[in-house]
Amino acid sequence: MKVTVIGAAGGIGQALSLLLKNGLPAGSDLALFDLAPVTPGVAVDLSHIPTDVKIQGFSKDDLGKALADADIVMIPAGMPRKPGMDRADLFKANAGIIKGLAEAIVENCPKAMVGVITNPVNTTVPIVAEVFKKAGTYDAKRLFGVTTLDVIRSETFVAQAKGLSATEVMVPVIGGHSGTTILPLLSQVDGVEFTDEEVASLTDRIQNAGTEVVEAKAGGGSATLSMGQAAARFCLSLANAMNGDQAVVEYAYVDGGSEHGEYFAQAMRLGPNGVEELLPIGDLSAYEEKALNDMKDTLTGDVRKGVEFVAG
Ligand code: 2OP
Repeated sequence: MKVTVIGAAGGIGQALSLLLKNGLPAGSDLALFDLAPVTPGVAVDLSHIPTDVKIQGFSKDDLGKALADADIVMIPAGMPRKPGMDRADLFKANAGIIKGLAEAIVENCPKAMVGVITNPVNTTVPIVAEVFKKAGTYDAKRLFGVTTLDVIRSETFVAQAKGLSATEVMVPVIGGHSGTTILPLLSQVDGVEFTDEEVASLTDRIQNAGTEVVEAKAGGGSATLSMGQAAARFCLSLANAMNGDQAVVEYAYVDGGSEHGEYFAQAMRLGPNGVEELLPIGDLSAYEEKALNDMKDTLTGDVRKGVEFVAG
């Protein structure tokens, strides 16, 4: 199995690469790419960690080499947010970057599974899909917007609020990956009851957790370490599923033709071909029903923006 990280020298990329060096199955290849000339050095640094994962670093003109024959491509490349920005403000900076990377994937590893972390995820995933469609290489089951950070944040915040161990809490999170499109289904958390006030405040905290980090970092960027952890969890789950584990369930933002949105984040069973099965979102509370309805126009607009960007 070969995994390529694009944007590997950045804050998310380095954390993700470290976790993959330690977590990928023995015998895997890990390729790091970033425009920054430090990237081969990041790979040398990680290569001293004693695991049976072979690592190589590439920069500048060597994107093709990094991508060649990749089975999974994880993409954290692009600009992070600064205080006062929301994820949509990154569209200008990141849309062109993600389009160029999708074109390079078409050329070098058209069958790879692709995990997009670059924001705004609600829009960058459709951009990648449209590039793949144009090239005739699109398989909706192999393209994912990584929303795992919303899931792990929800687990952490619910555990804190209820005095539970974060390792025991599971929270479904559906919709998309920005603001009100992030919808934690607190009514489905096993064995826990919430008051209306708790639902409102936890939902608000989960939806704005990225901004909490952006503000705390005071101009120094957005979430990198927790996002690295989240992306590694998703990537390692996907790798396990591709290696034959049939019980791997993760959340991601995918093109599923869902009744709730053309692209929609929900639980899915992963397998050797990517999405094996989208799992039902289950019963929603009245609060969640309303939030789901209220997000639809935003989500549709975010997707349209990506489609139109590639159509030109
Ligand atoms: C976040 O949710 C970076 O989108 C990322 O913090």
